[in-house]
Amino acid sequence: MCGITGYLGGREACPILIDGLRQLEYRGYDSAGIALVNECGELHVYKEKGKVQDLEAGLAGKNISGHLGIAHTRWATHGEPSAVNAHPHVSSSGRFAIVHNGIIENYAVIRRNLEKKGYAFKSSTDTEVLVQLIDYVASCSDSDTVAVLQEVLDEIVGAYAIALIDMKYPDRLFAARKSSPLAVGIGDDEFIVASDISPIAGNADKVMYLGDEEIAEMHRDGSLHIVNLSNAECRHEILAVPKNLGRTRKDGFDHFMLKEIFEQPSSLTDCMRGRVDVVGKTVTLSAVREHKDRLLAAERFIIVACGTSWHAGLIGKQMIENFCRIPAETVYASEFRYSNPVIRSSDVVIAISQSGETADTLAAVELARSKGAFIYGICNAVGSSIPRATDTGSYIHVGPEIGVASTKAFTGQVTVLAMLALDIAREKNTIDDRTYAGMIEELASIPEKMRVVLRTNDSIASLAKMFTYAKNFIYLGRGYSYPAALEGALKLKEISYIHAEGYPAAEMKHGPIALIDEEMPVVIIATHNALYEKILSNVQEIKARKGRVIAIVSEGDTAISDIADTVIEIPETIECLDPLLVSVPLQLLAYHIAVCKGKDVDRPRNLAKSVTVE
Ligand code: M6R
Repeated sequence: MCGITGYLGGREACPILIDGLRQLEYRGYDSAGIALVNECGELHVYKEKGKVQDLEAGLAGKNISGHLGIAHTRWATHGEPSAVNAHPHVSSSGRFAIVHNGIIENYAVIRRNLEKKGYAFKSSTDTEVLVQLIDYVASCSDSDTVAVLQEVLDEIVGAYAIALIDMKYPDRLFAARKSSPLAVGIGDDEFIVASDISPIAGNADKVMYLGDEEIAEMHRDGSLHIVNLSNAECRHEILAVPKNLGRTRKDGFDHFMLKEIFEQPSSLTDCMRGRVDVVGKTVTLSAVREHKDRLLAAERFIIVACGTSWHAGLIGKQMIENFCRIPAETVYASEFRYSNPVIRSSDVVIAISQSGETADTLAAVELARSKGAFIYGICNAVGSSIPRATDTGSYIHVGPEIGVASTKAFTGQVTVLAMLALDIAREKNTIDDRTYAGMIEELASIPEKMRVVLRTNDSIASLAKMFTYAKNFIYLGRGYSYPAALEGALKLKEISYIHAEGYPAAEMKHGPIALIDEEMPVVIIATHNALYEKILSNVQEIKARKGRVIAIVSEGDTAISDIADTVIEIPETIECLDPLLVSVPLQLLAYHIAVCKGKDVDRPRNLAKSVTVE
């Protein structure tokens, strides 16, 4: 993962780079560093363990002038989070400084070879190996920097996006990438490279995306040359940097996560805007219009995703099968890519990703594409790698999600999947008019019903205080609510560090029921739906073993409310849309427990917003 950025131009590099790192912190935040070349041609490197704000504090009183610089915010892969392992890494000769996002898989063998040649290493990182190899290859010939990079990168196995300073050319900035994203912002005689467009927005009007195995050489005079590893010149479309990439703020909320939970009524309205027409009683996704023949001819849908997006995919599978009567399966992208899957050209693969940068999901897309499947992306980050690698798709349009724990992206993904299933089902004639019209009406009413659910915030905050003692939690649901239970458990785990398991409620008696005692909180999704009576029995089974039941029930419920320890009431909706409403109290519960435990809700330990390594 990690976020990288680099600057070359007429302005002071440091503030631009630090600001860029703040934008990229969603990619990792265990350490950060910056390298700057000042007007005397001296290289200064500063690194800190911790977040970008720690690096910024460490820069006070230091020599930070310079018009060329590179910077990095890290999510550790090789070597613990520490100042030594933080980037930039500088080669032994002091000639090269590098920042890197990705993993060099053959770093160990390269390191051994370099050690034999006398190179000493300060860190445990694969990145230091890369910069030392660049140094070694450069020392063996008079080749220019690009030729050196071509030779070195050809030897590298793995993924990289790099920004490189060569002190022999202090008026140039070098960048290259393979499998990790890299955007090049082009201003007036200045360049900003970055892992995504956010550090570029506000600094440059134009942007281009470097292709795989390409090297960019940027000069202070504003010239830019791009070649691939075989030295063929490469050209890319230069795009305008979108004007509306505004800064995201907490708007008075204590955390981005809470803000994003509360944003859901409006983010889902945005998600459905121009797509759900309540008056005309239609759902229309432009991607379905444009690729109708291909989508209607699909013999199977395979949904690939990770984490929360995978949970949305489990709901999408049920919707596609229920409404479109087309077989569908949902697979972890990380498993799919190495499972030698049977993929036919008649398959449609749906890739779901909030960030659009998840390495495993991107690799699954590339694999499916190579086998001839049609690829449909459901992403949030506009212009990110997955939408660019798919045949078509629908953005969820919920706005930037900053909190590491995904909230509004989940409900946006489920909403797009519902719209997709409905649109295809309508075209295929596998849905009757009444169900179709009812779904549209209900979808349109979800934002208002969510506002009602959000009113439970204060009571959930009080409830949370009672559960900070818990070491474990169980989350149960059935049918469409089972993935919602998985999602609730994931939320709690990732931000409060409490172990939590999501289970299909009826599976309890096949093992996990042994865990139930008076200490065990069990969150059970028990809204009015076809399996309500069955869920009621499951609640009784837990109460018979003295488990502490927190039930999410439909307004007016009595049967479960009578036996559960605590109930959270939510408005009724159609069963397949239940996860949209149910997920809100689950998000709030996880949030408030984490806050009570004093955890860093928006940036939980060991995690990053965007998982760009496999
Ligand atoms: O950006 P993506 O949707 O592809 O990310 C997938 C997962 O990494 C992500 O959902 C992760 O599980 C979240 N932290 C969950 O809250």
